[in-house]
Amino acid sequence: MNPSPTLSATEITSDRLRLRKAHDIDREGFIELQTDPQVRLYLGGPRPRSAVEQYLDVTGTTSVTNNPGTFVIADKMTDRLLGTLILDRRSTDLPGHVTEEGGELELTYLLRREAWGAGLAFEAATAALRAAADELPDQPVLVVTQTANERSLKLATRLGFQRMSTFEAHDAEQTLAATNLHSFKV
Ligand SMILES: CC(C)(COP(=O)(O)OP(=O)(O)OC[C@H]1O[C@@H](n2cnc3c(N)ncnc32)[C@H](O)[C@@H]1OP(=O)(O)O)[C@@H](O)C(=O)NCCC(=O)NCCS
Repeated sequence: MNPSPTLSATEITSDRLRLRKAHDIDREGFIELQTDPQVRLYLGGPRPRSAVEQYLDVTGTTSVTNNPGTFVIADKMTDRLLGTLILDRRSTDLPGHVTEEGGELELTYLLRREAWGAGLAFEAATAALRAAADELPDQPVLVVTQTANERSLKLATRLGFQRMSTFEAHDAEQTLAATNLHSFKV
């Protein structure tokens, strides 16, 4: 197993986007992502605004992206937060793996509702996975998403992920999809 946790880049740009670390001005965007019923439909439902505000007050908005591989997806022109993207490692404590040892790279994406339907999640994921493929040895990458989350599964398929298995978690069927990191090597 590769010991590097994930990609080390702190900023990645594409045609329309900048993947970057969080700034204080992102606070309202983070609150919307956590409280919007449509964005949270397959992610356990919306969180109460007061709880999200309190969390950000305690931890600070910029700490949200402290971990390597965790990014704000921002509009390249306006710098507005459009969503978040995480490329980290899937904990061995969770179900859903394609290797015996687990801890595979795992991709997660969220966009504000206003940003859906424009290919922006695809663009962000492609840019992040290309950067990771440049830096890390070839290895599996996973997407785990509720089977009912058609938009997420469509995106994973468009990125080249293949459905591997399904399993139950959080009272819902989850689909595990996987691809090889170096399929994104340019
Ligand atoms: C999952 C999610 C990120 C997908 O967003 P998305 O905008 O549908 O994804 P894509 O970036 O692949 O965009 C695809 C859509 O943009 C359209 N599109 C427009 N311009 C495009 C372009 N230049 N390139 C590609 N697609 C384009 C496609 O036709 C497609 O439209 P359709 O949905 O009407 O078929 C979004 O629905 C979301 O944030 N959901 C809530 C959070 C969530 O459940 N995340 C999953 C956790 S893993």
